[in-house]
Amino acid sequence: MRWRPMHTPAELLVLRGARAVDPARALDAVVDVVVERGRITRIGPNAGAEPARAERAQVIDAAGQWVLPAFVDLHAHLREPGQEYKEDIASGLSAAAAGGYAHVCAMPNTQPVNDTRAVTEMMVHRAAEHGGPTLHPIGAITKRQEGKELTEMAELRAAGAVAVSDDGVCVMSSAVMRRALEYAKNFDIPVIQHAEDHELTQGADIHEGAISARLGLRGWPRVAEDVIVARDILLAEYVGARYHVAHVSTRGAARLVREAKGRHIDVTCEVTPHHLLLTDAALLGYDTACKVNPPLREPEDVAALVEALADGTIDAIATDHAPHSPLEKDCELSQARPGMMGLELCFGLLLGLVGSSGLKLERLIDALSTRPARIVGLDAPSLREGALAELTLVDPAARWKPESVHLRSKSRNTPFMSRELMGKVLLTLARGVVVHDAIGGA
Ligand code: DOR
Repeated sequence: MRWRPMHTPAELLVLRGARAVDPARALDAVVDVVVERGRITRIGPNAGAEPARAERAQVIDAAGQWVLPAFVDLHAHLREPGQEYKEDIASGLSAAAAGGYAHVCAMPNTQPVNDTRAVTEMMVHRAAEHGGPTLHPIGAITKRQEGKELTEMAELRAAGAVAVSDDGVCVMSSAVMRRALEYAKNFDIPVIQHAEDHELTQGADIHEGAISARLGLRGWPRVAEDVIVARDILLAEYVGARYHVAHVSTRGAARLVREAKGRHIDVTCEVTPHHLLLTDAALLGYDTACKVNPPLREPEDVAALVEALADGTIDAIATDHAPHSPLEKDCELSQARPGMMGLELCFGLLLGLVGSSGLKLERLIDALSTRPARIVGLDAPSLREGALAELTLVDPAARWKPESVHLRSKSRNTPFMSRELMGKVLLTLARGVVVHDAIGGA
C-alpha cells in the first residue's frame, strides 16, 4: 500500500536511523531526517524521536539504509515531442524518479528539435503536469541541429533551458563552435558538445580496434572524440566560456580534460554508466543493446574513465538514457540505432564500483548529484536543515534484477536486463514531494 501520497508535499515524514551521506556538507553519519511540509527540518541522532510520535507522522525505520541528496541527470533523451512510442516526458520522469533523480536535463534531439522557445516551454509545461522530478530542457546549439546557424539562445534560456547542446551530432565547424561559446557565455550556460569528428566515423558501428576488425565492422576510432575535445578546449580557453563534454569515452579525452582543468580552463565533463562498466567485447555477439554512441571502448579506456571519475577529472555521471523501441533495436547491428536506457538502473549498476575500483562513496554521490547540479546552475539537492527535501533513500544491500514488468520507461533496450544489480532506490523526494515510493516492494 502506498501510504505516502505521491506528488503531494511530504507533510511529516520521519526517516529513522539512516546513514546520511552528503559530500557537499562532509556529512556521513547515522541520523534521523525529518521532513515537514516538503522541507528538511531536522537532521541528527534521534532528531525524529519526538516528531515520530505525532499522529500524522509517517515513520520509516531506515536502519541499514542510506539517505542521499537526490540525483541530477545531465543527459537524458525523453523523446517528447515526436517519438513518444519510445518514451514521453511522463514515462521518462517516472523512470527518473524510480532511479532516485529529482532533476533531469533533457537533450534537444526530439522531433522537432528543441531549438525554439515553443518546444522548450512545451516540455516544461508537460513536466509540470506530471508533477515528478523537475525537467530542465537543454536547447539546441544550432537550428535543427544542422551545425550551421545558431539558435536564439536568449529565448531558450528565458523559457527554461539550462544549457545548449546538439547532442547526437557534433558541432563540427570551429567557427560555429566559437560563436556558440561566445553567445552562451552571455547567459552563463555551458555548451555541451557531442565530441565526434563525423568525417572519422562515417559508417562506423562500434569502436575501432581488434574487435571491429574481427567482426568485419567499420570502427569509430578514439581519435575522433579526442580531436574535437582538444579543439574545443582551445576554443573555450580563447573565448573564456563554459564548455562541457558529453559522454566521455576515451582515455585520451579524460587526459585532455585533466590537463585543461590543470590550466584552469572552464571545462567539465560527464561519463555514462555503460562506459564505466562495459567494453567493446560486449559486441562480440552483435548485441544491438550494446550499440551506443560514442561506442563502448577497450579495457584501458574503462580503467582511465574510472580513475578520472575517482579523482574528479570527470565531474558527473550522466545516464545518456536513450530509449529505443524494438523497431530500432531488433535488427542488424548496422541498422540499429545507438543508445541504451539508464535512468532506472544507474545507481544499482554503479554502487559496485565503490571500493573495488578506488572510487569513494562520497565521490559517487557528488558525481550523481552535487556536481551535475552546479554545472547547469541548479541549487544542488542537499541534506541540510531548511533545505527543500530532495533526497533519495536507498537500500545498499539489496540485490535485484531489472525485470520488464517493473520498469517505468516505455523502452527495454538495455543489456543489463535480468543482471543482478546492487543497491536499490526505495524512495525519492523531489521539490519536497514524494515522486517514487517502493518501500513496500515494487
Ligand atoms: O547512444 C546515443 N544515443 N548517443 C547519442 O549521442 C544519441 C542517443 C540517442 O538519441 O539515441
